[in-house]
Amino acid sequence: MGNFVLNYHMIKHMEQTIQYMKTFCKDKGIASITPSSPFAVKRICNKIDFTKDTVIVECGPGNGVFSFAILRQMSPGSRLILIEANRDFVRYLDQRIPDPRVSVFHDNAINIQSIVNQCGLNTADYVIMGIPFSLSDHEQNHSIIANCKKVLKKGGIILVYQFSPRIKKYLRKHFDHIHPDLEVFNIPPLFIFEAFH
Ligand SMILES: C[S@@+](CC[C@H](N)C(=O)[O-])C[C@H]1O[C@@H](n2cnc3c(N)ncnc32)[C@H](O)[C@@H]1O
Repeated sequence: MGNFVLNYHMIKHMEQTIQYMKTFCKDKGIASITPSSPFAVKRICNKIDFTKDTVIVECGPGNGVFSFAILRQMSPGSRLILIEANRDFVRYLDQRIPDPRVSVFHDNAINIQSIVNQCGLNTADYVIMGIPFSLSDHEQNHSIIANCKKVLKKGGIILVYQFSPRIKKYLRKHFDHIHPDLEVFNIPPLFIFEAFH
């Protein structure tokens, strides 16, 4: 049974990786050739409290490497809102996640506030942010982080993962507390920031 479970997850991971690489060939805005590693997913998900009902917004889910892990741990009363700019990924997520707790949006993370409102909510407990900030301009980066802060409830946390630590300057402007972390078992290694105010 143990071997079966391992093989099932390995096959699913391979299938997801191939789909991800094909999409990357069409859209370099995705920024990385492969999805985040299982080590990165585990490290970031370990920062989430899954013992209570939560609202989680994931910006830039790609083909859902974090989303599937979150759904496995999330309570039945929790919500997961996915905001993805690439149409092929949105189609993939729509087809592969038939879960009433999930809402998928083909949109830009900058619109996070109105998207959360469209889901009948005002705030979120967590924002998981995987979009490549190095590819967009300074103003947009500031606006995205500012809008994420507006959507987070008191005590809410933003978890940002990037290939470069440059995002820290944007986080510093909007959040009082920033805890850095690093996952070396990822190609390339991932800088992770947990921020709250
Ligand atoms: C580096 S990939 C991360 C994918 C996935 N979360 C992972 O860890 O494997 C960045 C993702 O963000 C999406 N993206 C880029 N800019 C975005 C934006 N402004 N709003 C929403 N999604 C965006 C890309 O299409 C891509 O799927």
